[in-house]
Amino acid sequence: MSDTDTKRVALAFSGGLDTTVCVPLLEEEYGYDGVIGVTVDVGQPASEFAEAEETAEALGLEHHVVDATEEFAELCFDAVRANASYQGYPLGTALARPVIAEAILEVAREEGCTGLAHGSTGKGNDQLRFEAVWRDSDLEVIAPVRELGLTREFEQEYAAERGLPIEGGDEGKYSIDTNLWSRSVEGSELEEPGHVPGEEIYEWTDAPGGDTHEVEVGFEDGYPVSLDGEAIEPVELIEKLNDLAGGYGVGRSDIMEDRMLGLKVRENYEHPAATVLLNAHEALEDLVLTKEERAFKKRVDHEWSEKGYQGLVNAPLVGALEGFIEETQTRVTGTVTIRFEGGQARPVGRESTYAVYSAEAASFNTEDVTGGIEQSDATGVAKYHGFQERLANRVIGANRE
Ligand code: ARG
Repeated sequence: MSDTDTKRVALAFSGGLDTTVCVPLLEEEYGYDGVIGVTVDVGQPASEFAEAEETAEALGLEHHVVDATEEFAELCFDAVRANASYQGYPLGTALARPVIAEAILEVAREEGCTGLAHGSTGKGNDQLRFEAVWRDSDLEVIAPVRELGLTREFEQEYAAERGLPIEGGDEGKYSIDTNLWSRSVEGSELEEPGHVPGEEIYEWTDAPGGDTHEVEVGFEDGYPVSLDGEAIEPVELIEKLNDLAGGYGVGRSDIMEDRMLGLKVRENYEHPAATVLLNAHEALEDLVLTKEERAFKKRVDHEWSEKGYQGLVNAPLVGALEGFIEETQTRVTGTVTIRFEGGQARPVGRESTYAVYSAEAASFNTEDVTGGIEQSDATGVAKYHGFQERLANRVIGANRE
């Protein structure tokens, strides 16, 4: 058979049970002659690549690994500029999906594939995030687990019958998704919202103890650029802060999350670097932006976060929001000191040449920078303040009588 009539499909491949059973199913149920497994590096631990590699080899699967860590870190830093969080979750999984989907699409095109497949179920967010990218191509989009209504039990039986390599994969009792920006733990007894998780679910963070530590994060145009005065690249900064702040128990969250399809899920996350950088960034904005800009930016940030959660970071709305963000970030340059203390990453100092702050004005020295304003000038303002409210209350009172 010549290359041109071979039907091949690119599969988002992790080496876990779901994507492993997808390999024979794509040939048997969807009529593909060949499957290419693609694992995209967005900062997963080395053990996950070893698992994918081993499983691919045992399956005889052509396996590609694509490094997208830098690109992903850049997107995480765009998220920092937008103070992005969804219901208290800094969006690690959500932001990684479009990056992964794009990388797989690229491999699929290079390899002349006519299909794209993922192993996500029909209940979660990831199916939507992957397909939002893929359905913009003319390749066939396939979701075997969802379309064939597969259950965990069926997958286990099917794998056993076919002798598929699943023993190597350490599936564990939790469903875990890890990348540079966050580690998510779901499933098993955690599905009971009242269950208080034990320390064993945490891998990035130690239980907060009594020790404290301070770091200084430097920003330029809203992007984190240095740690303790030393310039540092995004991937390295994130890895370093995950390690350092994680040691002080920073960046744990235990939330009820509303998925896109409306299901509530109990989610546990670890995200030390994200917590440090988001807290530091917001502290610097508090210093350099006006009150109105801060208030309006909260709304912009909220909309950015919603699109980030949906995996739609390329939406025209996001571009428009980023126009506003870009304009404000030209002043978000300076440094913030963060103290790790009791599991928190608390801003304890901030400096910027763009600070909208005058110590003289705040402390009312006679000669100040506010253009000759004197204390007594506030008298007129004080007389007017609350005028309408006083009048309204009087009218309401009179009508009640
Ligand atoms: N709920 C999160 C999201 O949709 C993370 C899901 C991670 N998946 C997992 N199997 N732990 O972004």
